[in-house]
Amino acid sequence: MTAPLRSGEPIVVPVALGTRAYDIVIGRGLIGSLGARIKELRPGAKCVIVTDATVAKLHLAAAEASLKSAGIESSAIVVPPGEGSKNYATFETVCEAIIAARIERGDLVIALGGGVIGDLAGFASASVRRGLDFVQVPTTLLAQVDSSVGGKTGINSRHGKNLVGAFHQPIMVIADTALLDTLSKREFRAGYAEMAKFGLLGDAAFFTWLEANWQDLFAGGPAREHAIAVCCRGKAGIVARDERETGERALLNLGHTFGHALEAGAGFSQRLLHGEAVALGTALAFEFSARKGLTAASEATRASAHLAAVGLPTYLKDVPGGVPGVDALLDLIAQDKKVKRGKLTFILVRGIGQAFIENNVDPAEVRAFLADKFSA
Ligand SMILES: NC(=O)c1ccc[n+]([C@@H]2O[C@H](COP(=O)([O-])OP(=O)(O)OC[C@H]3O[C@@H](n4cnc5c(N)ncnc54)[C@H](O)[C@@H]3O)[C@@H](O)[C@H]2O)c1
Ligand SMILES: [Zn+2]
Repeated sequence: MTAPLRSGEPIVVPVALGTRAYDIVIGRGLIGSLGARIKELRPGAKCVIVTDATVAKLHLAAAEASLKSAGIESSAIVVPPGEGSKNYATFETVCEAIIAARIERGDLVIALGGGVIGDLAGFASASVRRGLDFVQVPTTLLAQVDSSVGGKTGINSRHGKNLVGAFHQPIMVIADTALLDTLSKREFRAGYAEMAKFGLLGDAAFFTWLEANWQDLFAGGPAREHAIAVCCRGKAGIVARDERETGERALLNLGHTFGHALEAGAGFSQRLLHGEAVALGTALAFEFSARKGLTAASEATRASAHLAAVGLPTYLKDVPGGVPGVDALLDLIAQDKKVKRGKLTFILVRGIGQAFIENNVDPAEVRAFLADKFSA
């Protein structure tokens, strides 16, 4: 697999969801065409842009200029950056601001930001007037390959992440890869964890390609658009077959059962970003699978080695400030939504690119595995 040379033409990935089908458009510099694309899709619609303060400083002006040049009236709602904004208070602020901006059915909400903004603005769009159309303009790598696609929206509860939300598909996703140039290396890497996850869960050839091409992707070369398109195509296919996560879509949670527990253990703080927790969680899921004899230890080593090569955490000791003990981690795992009748659900692997859903994991087995990890 080789990356195509940058052609200048955006890559369009359709998400086949019947009457709710939409396109993901991927390319460098696309923000300039935002207004024209919206005008074509929803002539006469008024827009409100939801963004965070960091993204507003860097990219709001370009988005507004593009809307203006297409003759589209817009206003902006700016919330504080970070996971903390996926809470009830900010959700209320955003809903009230959308209503105050007189956005009605037929108008549009634009989520300009990372996964936090996409989830928050998406959920507000699903809720205000029982559902407004919205457009995702993802500005982090994580959002471009994962969170902006597939219609999961929501906020966090004190009981755990993403526990309050709705399925609400965007009507278009505009992924301008140039917006990622302003992202910190750390945030870029965290998004890369979700990208590697796509290879690790179902596309071994893509994982091999990433092992060879990740540097070009980080540097902003044409590998970036190619890899984002591969992930979006992969996710679009899964979402089209299983929109509501009754089966296959759960594979996207590879690394997330361990990951969410670690993320919660770090208090959803800057100590451990979501993607970092996913990298560590994925390494653990591979090791746990190897321990259960489901995959060769060499597959687990190879998966971890690549994540570590790009600078992602793969050992519990990599988390600054440490992680909660075995009991606390198990409690956090059990609080996660993937628990049924005392058995835990994990996404396990038979090898790189061969993830599957295991509904019958004994918590005692997880405890023993984690205890070994702590003593190692
Ligand atoms: N809905 C889904 O299917 C789905 C999937 C995966 C993750 N998520 C959610 O996504 C969230 C994580 O998303 P994230 O990692 O994008 O976090 P984020 O939205 O908090 O963005 C990370 C940081 O980067 C900043 N930033 C964003 N774009 C920037 C840019 N272009 N230049 C400079 N700085 C920029 C933000 O201000 C923020 O501080 C989590 O809440 C997670 O639960 C949702
Ligand atoms: Zn994730």
